[in-house]
Amino acid sequence: MENFLSIYDCTASQLNELLQLSSELKKLYKAGGRDLCLAGKALAMLFEKVSLRTRISFQIAMTDLGGYPIYIKPEDIGGIGKREPVKDMARVLSRYVDGIMARTFEHDTLVELARFAEVPVINALSDFSHPCQAMADVLTIGEHCGKLAGLKIAYIGDGNNVARSLVFACAKLGMKMAVASPAGYELDADSVAKANGIAADTVIQTNAPADAVIDADIVYTDTWVSMGQEDEKKQRIKDFEGFQVNAELMKLAPAKARVMHCLPAYRGLEITDETAEAENSIIFDQAENRLHFQRALLKKLLSDNRER
Ligand code: CP
Ligand code: NVA
Repeated sequence: MENFLSIYDCTASQLNELLQLSSELKKLYKAGGRDLCLAGKALAMLFEKVSLRTRISFQIAMTDLGGYPIYIKPEDIGGIGKREPVKDMARVLSRYVDGIMARTFEHDTLVELARFAEVPVINALSDFSHPCQAMADVLTIGEHCGKLAGLKIAYIGDGNNVARSLVFACAKLGMKMAVASPAGYELDADSVAKANGIAADTVIQTNAPADAVIDADIVYTDTWVSMGQEDEKKQRIKDFEGFQVNAELMKLAPAKARVMHCLPAYRGLEITDETAEAENSIIFDQAENRLHFQRALLKKLLSDNRER
């Protein structure tokens, strides 16, 4: 594994290995142990968008493993691909650091970074996908349900970056996903075809949340207005009416179904406060697992013996 740009590019055994390593490191760190496998290594962290979970969990994970993260705001470097081409940034950074993670608008920026970097590149969210989130999600599901294969996620809301990474994770790990979105906000046909090409019938698309939650082990939602879509907020709130995860919808799901949200949550829009705070909500376990997965990913990608 050279980069981590999309779950689609990973094999099931690579994903399972990362999940296993996440659990091992979680256990080790919770027991007070330490693994300093990245001592002296540096991670460049480029962000075109804001972040709480991703930024902090990567910073802590890198530091925990003995390395040091360097957070870079776009204005510090004159914008990604603005002051100088992305391909030059990739090669310059490769002479200084051992890994690059980036949160971008365009997914192609990450692809370009990876093409020219001589060190691993990690997708910390793009408009296309959010693979680190999906991996923390399946880690959390495995902990709560004791298995992954055969489980069903009902995803209610926008067919966005988070949904896309989740369908690829489901396809690779033997899970099913029903995606309920308003007309015009469905997951793109290409991603659905790709997921169903990995494992037949992984994804079912519907415009009816009530149909999606039947038999669901997990009811998952994300914001209706992703970063970069702020101008569409008013229209989106109108168009997503009826797609809220609330007590009424949860009554149609099996009683044991857990509620998930990648956060940040906009309570009163895609989810009610009551449902986010309910006993079956596992959103903060999910958020915590970002750290445990990030450690595993950094260890796997960055702990070779390359010298600067
Ligand atoms: N879920 C997630 O990626 O959160 P941040 O945007 O705060 O990093
Ligand atoms: N879909 C959201 C996820 C935030 C973690 C966004 O891209 O803004």
